[in-house]
Amino acid sequence: LARGTHSADLAGRHVVISAGGTREPLDPVRYLGNRSSGRQGYALARTAVARGARVTLVAANSELADPAGADVVRVGTAVQLREAVLKAAADADAVVMAAAVADFRPAHYATGKIKKKDGEEPAPVELVRNPDVLAELSAGRARPGQVVVGFAAETDDVLANGRAKLARKGCDLLVVNEVGEDRTFGSTENEAVVLAADGSATEVPHGPKEALADVVWDLVAGRLG
Ligand code: CTP
Ligand code: CA
Repeated sequence: LARGTHSADLAGRHVVISAGGTREPLDPVRYLGNRSSGRQGYALARTAVARGARVTLVAANSELADPAGADVVRVGTAVQLREAVLKAAADADAVVMAAAVADFRPAHYATGKIKKKDGEEPAPVELVRNPDVLAELSAGRARPGQVVVGFAAETDDVLANGRAKLARKGCDLLVVNEVGEDRTFGSTENEAVVLAADGSATEVPHGPKEALADVVWDLVAGRLG
């Protein structure tokens, strides 16, 4: 669709987007993190505002400027992100999980800075699982007909991995990116295929993250009817 042809097709809708990457603290100065910049989630927020939606952006550790017209909720960890997303999703028509959520967090948080000791090997970092927000959203839709969208960065057999992940998560749409050392993270451009629970696949050519965002909203708007 050309820009402008879908103007205001999300008017009256509330959409929730998570963006960025969670950080899981080890001690007051250290965390386990990831390389997500938040750009795709912010592009989703900007395009949804442009299409007339009320937008809640749950932003995890992104340095990007707040998108005009969106309600921004800042979070740090996966547990905080889950709380903010579930709260906003209660009256949402669609939820898009563009954030890179840490799968694990340190089992223990040291309230003081961890120090090295002469002649001692470091203690291993014990990890525990974080909640799977996308699976939880999909399993218990806050509203009938709520559209739930996930993102997946895959390597190797990208499509097969994407199909399996879509089924496992139970979401309506899964945006699958192929990643490598120099691709996707921190870039302003993207290339993806959007897999749907009904078996369809929409290829999105290499282009700006706004273009991929508009394809996602086209597919969401189609499902909202
Ligand atoms: N996700 C989530 N909660 C988590 C982990 C992931 O909500 N604890 C969401 C992400 O926001 C994304 C989708 O699930 O929309 C897929 O994330 P991904 O890391 O690809 O999926 P995982 O199930 O964690 O699989 P993998 O073992 O490949 O990391
Ligand atoms: Ca993961």
